[in-house]
Amino acid sequence: MTDAFAQDVHHGLSSNPKCLDSKYFYDSEGDKLFQQIMGLSEYYLTDCEFEILHNYRDPLLKNFVNQDKSFHLVELGAGDGLKTKLVLRHFHRVKAHFTYLPIDISGNVLNMLRHELSRDLPGLEVRCYQGDYFDALDQLNQKEAGRKVLMFLGSSIGNFNQYDALTFLRELNQRMNVDDQLLIGFDLKKDPHIILRAYNDDSGITARFNLNLLHRINKELDGEFVLENFYHYPIYNPLTGETRSFLISKVAQNVRVGYLNEVFEFQMGEPISMEISQKYDRAMIYDLSEKAGFSVEKNFFDNRKYFVDSLWKKH
Ligand SMILES: C[S@@+](CC[C@H](N)C(=O)[O-])C[C@H]1O[C@@H](n2cnc3c(N)ncnc32)[C@H](O)[C@@H]1O
Repeated sequence: MTDAFAQDVHHGLSSNPKCLDSKYFYDSEGDKLFQQIMGLSEYYLTDCEFEILHNYRDPLLKNFVNQDKSFHLVELGAGDGLKTKLVLRHFHRVKAHFTYLPIDISGNVLNMLRHELSRDLPGLEVRCYQGDYFDALDQLNQKEAGRKVLMFLGSSIGNFNQYDALTFLRELNQRMNVDDQLLIGFDLKKDPHIILRAYNDDSGITARFNLNLLHRINKELDGEFVLENFYHYPIYNPLTGETRSFLISKVAQNVRVGYLNEVFEFQMGEPISMEISQKYDRAMIYDLSEKAGFSVEKNFFDNRKYFVDSLWKKH
């Protein structure tokens, strides 16, 4: 991981504007902080998707089961599986014929998930695949024959800009067989205040989550970032539906990263672009699915219509 991480950090901090890839948020400290974010009252996304998966666990299963055949439930970026456990428990209870195959870049989070599932749902067939989405999915496809239902929950698709989201979904589509399905979460456009608060909580956990990536660079790449010299700054653009988070340099400063043998210069007020969180509306979702080679089978909304888990089929 260190070399890919080092290369990406080098590329990001040498770019103009500077950026860091949000997939590196998730070291063991980042995993913990993200779990805290999911519990924040401002972070409505988790509650909405919980509600959807709880209310529709049975219709979801009925849609996943195709002519009584068994299926593999493949989760991209499973994380701690907090919400997924809800459907797993139900599917397991009604004795659905399925295996659960979580993919995550974080080995730490997968170990926790494997441990918890063997304790809480003994007998459930679980095989974890660690790695970047497509590397892990390629490995999985070589080993696991049979129909697949992929899940990409929690608005992870929102972490791509619209162009990259389409590229990602096209590549995903190429790795799927006809009749495979994809359940994909989209955070929907809504009152901008509600959206912005979700990325700017009062207790400052989201700020710590972002700053943790600088700490990770210090730890793993012998970096010399002084975390107090940066602050977290999120924005939401209701025209494009894009939320963006930045770390802003409070002062003019030079930061050495030993492993890269490089010094990066920051102006006072200079941003590092950290994360995108794209919000969607119905038209954008249908457009995206069609362009990526899918058809929308069903949409599952929460009561407030803040969020949708959209079920797509590859055609
Ligand atoms: C925002 S969390 C979402 C977790 C869960 N799906 C949910 O909805 O609560 C994103 C998860 O995706 C993983 N992840 C991020 N980028 C990834 C990548 N490029 N390949 C594989 N996993 C990735 C992270 O380690 C993290 O566990």
